Formats: sequence, structure tokens, C-alpha cells
Amino acid sequence: MTETKRSYERMTVINRITTKLNRFAQLSNDTRAAAELSRLGLPYLPWSDASLLPSALQVVLNEIEINSRKTIVEFGSGISTIYIAKVLSRVGGRIVSFESDVEWATFVEDRLSALNLSEFVSVVRAPLGPSKLSRNNLNWYDQGIVASALEDLSIDCVLIDGPPAYEVGYEMARYPALPALKEHLAQDYVVFLDDIHRAGEQKILQLWSDQFGIKFLRYFSKGNISRGVHGTAHFTV
Ligand SMILES: C[S@@+](CC[C@H](N)C(=O)[O-])C[C@H]1O[C@@H](n2cnc3c(N)ncnc32)[C@H](O)[C@@H]1O
Repeated sequence: MTETKRSYERMTVINRITTKLNRFAQLSNDTRAAAELSRLGLPYLPWSDASLLPSALQVVLNEIEINSRKTIVEFGSGISTIYIAKVLSRVGGRIVSFESDVEWATFVEDRLSALNLSEFVSVVRAPLGPSKLSRNNLNWYDQGIVASALEDLSIDCVLIDGPPAYEVGYEMARYPALPALKEHLAQDYVVFLDDIHRAGEQKILQLWSDQFGIKFLRYFSKGNISRGVHGTAHFTV
């Protein structure tokens, strides 16, 4: 066996062990996060495979709370929107959440209303369509609708969990988010991208990192979310 082949096999074994260890850490982080999230006092919410994992959501909520993020923009509404609104109802701030599925947007709005959280959230219906910013001609949220919803915002926190990008060919679907927000980002801001275990999201992080000068931390054992800080963030999350 050549030295190159031996070294390749060693790396494969190390990768397998790291993946297994991450899985154990993931379980334990989700259990702890779910216990902390339950302290927010929300009723049952329909978590699904589409939702952020509890440990990833906890990273986002910690950021809002301890680094005082007040103007949040989200792509892909859901359970995350409701939990963020709940934290904002205590610490102040607002979230604008873009959603492409009209019925899902109504579902989220109804839950927010039932929980008296509507004043902290705008769920913006933005169908997917062609975008000048997209890679591989993939559809993105209607840019006219996005632009008018952002008009006077100075955004200090972005959460990107949409559009859906799990199918083959859709890997770069989430790329336009940061370029589209460019003119509205505060001097200090944080960006979260979910699903970074996928090749497409890793490529997107690389592109944003080069274009925006952001260094991304990758939380593989906390729901595969990544956190990139531009400027200062006083506390770790
Ligand atoms: C990754 S999900 C966004 C999830 C959201 N950020 C959360 O944590 O709940 C991306 C898109 O999937 C759709 N979606 C969300 N929850 C869903 C569900 N339970 N079933 C089907 N589609 C869903 C919505 O259109 C959403 O924008």
C-alpha cells in the first residue's frame, strides 16, 4: 500500500469517528437546549424535520439575548420565528421573516397572534422567482417585495433557513440572501446559516466569507448551524 493510500484511509477513519462523536454531542446538546427552551413558556409547537434543531435555535436566541441584537431578518419562517418573537417580547426588538409558502405564512402568523406576539414580527409573503443575484439561475424570494420590506432597516442579525435547498440542483438556493441585504446591514451584525453539513451551504459560506470579510464558526454538534460575525460581538454564544 502506498503512503498516499494509507494517509487517505487514516483520514477516512478519523472522519467517521468525528461524525459519530458529533452525533453524540448533538443529542446531548439538543436535550439540554430543549430543556432551556421549555423555560420560555411556549405551548406545544409542531417541530418537524424542516425546523431548526433545538441546539441551533438556542445559539440564535443566545445571540439575540446576550449580544443585544434588535433588528432581525429571517428567510424561511416557522418555529424559529415564534421562539425569536418570544425572546424579543422580553428584550425588545423586531423580526422581519420572509416566507415563500402562503399557507405556511398564515399558519405562523396565526400562532403568533394566538400567543400575543404579532407586534414583534412581520411575516412577509415573498414568492420564489428569478433573481439577478442567484447562482445557477435558481429562484429566490421576490426581490421587489424583499427590498420594500427592508426599506429603513439597519439589520444586526440575519437567519437564513430558506428557501428549501435539499434537492439535487438546488444547492446554491440560499446564496442571494446576504448580497440582497448588503445595503441594509449595520456596521456590527451576525449571520446564521443553517444546514452547513451540506456541500452547497459550505460553498455559500466560502463565497460570503470572501465577499463580506466574515469569519464563520461552524457548529456541527449544534444542529449544523454556522455563525459569522462582522464587526464586534462582545460575548460568545
Ligand atoms: C427549513 S424550513 C424553515 C424552518 C424554520 N426556520 C423553522 O425553524 O421552523 C424552509 C421552508 O420549509 C417550509 N416549511 C417549514 N416548516 C414546514 C413543515 N412543517 N412542513 C412543510 N414545509 C415546511 C416553509 O416554506 C419554510 O420556509
